[in-house]
Amino acid sequence: MCGIIGFCGYLDAKEELVKGLAELEYRGYDSAGIACFTESGIEIVKSVGKVAELENKLPPRMESGCGIGHTRWATHGGVSEVNAHPHQCGNVTLIHNGIIENYHELAKALENTGRIPVSRTDTEIAAMLIDSLYNGDAMEALRRAVERLKGAYAFCIMFADQKDVIYCIRKGSPLVCCSSEEGSVVASDMVALLRYSKEYFVLPEYQVAKVTKNTITVMELDGTVVSPVMLSIHWDMSAAQKNGFKHYMLKEIHEQPEAIRRTLAPRLKKGKYLLPDFSEDGIQDELFQDTNRIMITACGTAMHAGMMGRILMERLLRIPVNVEVASEFRYADPILDEKSLVIVVSQSGETADTLAALRLARKRGAKTLAIVNVKGSSIARESDYVLYTHAGPEIAVASTKAYTAQLTAFYLLTFRFAYVAGKLSEGQVSDYMKGLNEVGELMERVLEQKDKMKELSKRLTPAQDLFFIGRSMDYALSCEGSIKLKEITYIHSEAYAAGELKHGTLSLITGGVPVIALATQEDVFAKMISNVKEVRARGAMVILITKEGNTTAIEKDICDEHLILPASDDLFAPFTAAIILQLLAYYTSSYRGLDVDQPRNLAKSVTVE
Ligand code: G6P
Repeated sequence: MCGIIGFCGYLDAKEELVKGLAELEYRGYDSAGIACFTESGIEIVKSVGKVAELENKLPPRMESGCGIGHTRWATHGGVSEVNAHPHQCGNVTLIHNGIIENYHELAKALENTGRIPVSRTDTEIAAMLIDSLYNGDAMEALRRAVERLKGAYAFCIMFADQKDVIYCIRKGSPLVCCSSEEGSVVASDMVALLRYSKEYFVLPEYQVAKVTKNTITVMELDGTVVSPVMLSIHWDMSAAQKNGFKHYMLKEIHEQPEAIRRTLAPRLKKGKYLLPDFSEDGIQDELFQDTNRIMITACGTAMHAGMMGRILMERLLRIPVNVEVASEFRYADPILDEKSLVIVVSQSGETADTLAALRLARKRGAKTLAIVNVKGSSIARESDYVLYTHAGPEIAVASTKAYTAQLTAFYLLTFRFAYVAGKLSEGQVSDYMKGLNEVGELMERVLEQKDKMKELSKRLTPAQDLFFIGRSMDYALSCEGSIKLKEITYIHSEAYAAGELKHGTLSLITGGVPVIALATQEDVFAKMISNVKEVRARGAMVILITKEGNTTAIEKDICDEHLILPASDDLFAPFTAAIILQLLAYYTSSYRGLDVDQPRNLAKSVTVE
């Protein structure tokens, strides 16, 4: 949440900052602002709304080679220009991603120094604090500020008397840095570094990056210079662009077959049998042998992938698996020991609650394994084991390819675990793996039918309420379908375990209310069809999703619309069905004229708790 960028180099800073902010905009789009060192001192321009609004406001003459920029997702203080970053106090101009939890106490302590905030933000208090501690020695001021600040932060700071220098420090919130011929760049996400370099480093917590146009010096707070650990990005600029698609979301939906293949490829061990293999990931079989209980924790869509993982693991491994949203896991006093494996799932690897849940799990002595998309992210670095999904950069706020890549990771883990635990034979695992290998192709076949989903979405566009129903894997997928739909269409939607409908929700099913019924699982198929009849009897407009080869016959007029997925083992139906739900959400949002990629009030990387 909140995108920050700093540029110091040989190009026009304001232009570079605006380009970077546009790339980071998925992190927040309530307001934007930049501050640059110019001939006449530090100049600040801010604007409410998106980066494009800021761009329109920039004066043509603002010559500078060094500046900082911010795109905001409001936490403390409403959406207004005065609350937009950068914030300035005396010598200090800064941008911030995170939350300063003790801002009130700090503000009180600063009152008698004559520093009175003009905004309602915690960030301005941080600027005031650092200014009050600054005596010309930035390191000293930062050292003392860190002792006082509570909460999470990534700061880029300019001191008025140190022209063309940016200081950066972070705790919790992310910050990555790179050097190139054009100059030095720092940002919340490597997406904004791609135009400059594929080599970058993550600024370690509590270390300071002093950024000038030729170098980035990383120091401990006591001034000791350290060498950062360099990482490489494996994708190029085009991976983070729309490439002819109208929206990132549509592009990312289409990228799923490839994302799954990329996630599978390094883990396929070909021999007589096709087995999953994690040697390159450093995950040994002992991890599975020493586990008698699994906890999965994550937020949002990643948590829905965890719900699917749970069903799969319990079914094939026969050991207890729980799933908990990370924000609750943290406070539920979880019962864990060294035989517990905690799997944390996160696209960004930076979600604050998921990171805190991971830290708690480690503290309680559990083994931890992260399923993460972003290399070098905090969650990836702090877990005992990491299984990277190779979905590539996901820019749309609504997650699509990261979700199915996370599912792929769960399937791979489960198959290996089941093999190691002797629950499945080599031959059985190999058959499942072949099925998983074919999922990409099946998804491509569903994508070819996208016009059908486009047409069907017209029927959903006027809806005020919408329900998803399903059982077992279809229920887990319903939860994901529902969040996708509500976040980008603003239609109120709920996912219901189909058997629970009668216990309350059926009272909301009236004439014409759309119900999307997933019935892809043979073992609960007949029961699902009964539930479809129940809602139809109350006048619901039913869209039924089944799979080719469902053996139980159904009447022709059981639903208003019928979508049929290509034949596959039931276990793999969530992959193909996910595409249908994503496309329905996408086209409905488009018909409603909404901002598909950047829905209101949301942001992609939630780095506040
Ligand atoms: C936000 C995003 C969701 C995402 C969730 C968890 O709410 O909008 O798409 O599922 O955060 O993010 P993570 O990066 O941890 O997967």
